Amino acid sequence: MSTYILGIESSCDDTSAAVICDGCLRSNVIASQKVHEAFGGVVPELASRAHQQNIVPVVSEALRQAGIKKEDLSAIAFTRGPGLLGSLLVGTSFAKGMSIGLDIPLLDVNHLHAHVLSHFIKKEENDPVPEFPFLCLLISGGNSQIVMVKSPYDMEIIGKTIDDAAGEAFDKCAKVMGLPYPGGPHIDRLAKEGNPKAFKFSRPHIPGLDYSFSGLKTSFLYTVRDGIKADPHFIEHNLEDLAASLQATIIEILIDKLAKAPQLKEVRHLAIGGGVSANSGVRDAIQDFCDRRGIKAWIPERAFTTDNAAMVAAAGYFKFLKGEFCDLSLPPYSRVSV
Ligand code: KG4
Repeated sequence: MSTYILGIESSCDDTSAAVICDGCLRSNVIASQKVHEAFGGVVPELASRAHQQNIVPVVSEALRQAGIKKEDLSAIAFTRGPGLLGSLLVGTSFAKGMSIGLDIPLLDVNHLHAHVLSHFIKKEENDPVPEFPFLCLLISGGNSQIVMVKSPYDMEIIGKTIDDAAGEAFDKCAKVMGLPYPGGPHIDRLAKEGNPKAFKFSRPHIPGLDYSFSGLKTSFLYTVRDGIKADPHFIEHNLEDLAASLQATIIEILIDKLAKAPQLKEVRHLAIGGGVSANSGVRDAIQDFCDRRGIKAWIPERAFTTDNAAMVAAAGYFKFLKGEFCDLSLPPYSRVSV
């Protein structure tokens, strides 16, 4: 008999449901919330309301695309945290209700673990996957971490941001340039036409493997402010160069710490994950970094970089295999690391 896991993701502003059958992906449905664009960032209350509207149709569509009925499910995996509490409550409560109704077990998944384990989303049984232990650069709108992944159940953070995440640096600087939210993809597009050496922004001097992006954000803001004093149309005249220089600086900061990780000697594989891993410059830089060191690079499909339930189902499947089920009393949590 096949094992069907339903994954549910609702940690921020994407409502997603996915089905995996014996470890292989059968469907992955994502409803993104456009409502936040007008506000230049995610509005938590609006996110929770949109999840409430989306969750039933998204789960129904995931089951339909997988070609199964809800009664065929073996277990339900849901994102327990970290994320926005109101958003998490929608997915958590829905998963609990469905588990009671169907009398099947629940699997609680850490959202950050799920991003790391997105490399184990298989389409076919024999699809290749990373070899343990591997390093994962986890870069999203809320986190920037270097994670030593010893097994699906054992991960250690060896470096993390002490202030903003890489995605925030992209988004906040994009906002300064008047670009829509989220700004990361716009910077990525504009950077392709610009000169990455046109502007020089400050780099952090943080000891160890930790990151910092708040200084870069301020340095970017001052460059734009001073530029506008000399030329009121400074942003329009330098849009592509500003984007390219910003992206190049973020990549340099990310790569610099990775290169210093002593754990690089212990691994043969290196992965990236999280929304910022969709960035073309980051993907090329990581591939190049790994090629020069004879390490295998794992660059996720773009569909699996941002929030999705396929990664939640994949992470849940590992727990299912170990029999690590959770009980109905487990509340969601807004903050926690891997
Ligand atoms: O993992 P994710 O979907 O969720 C959160 O952590 O919220 O990451 C979202 C982040 C945003 O900051 C967005 O601007 C960034 O990922 N992002 C990108 C690109 N695509 C998404 N940043 C740079 N280049 C991209 N192509």
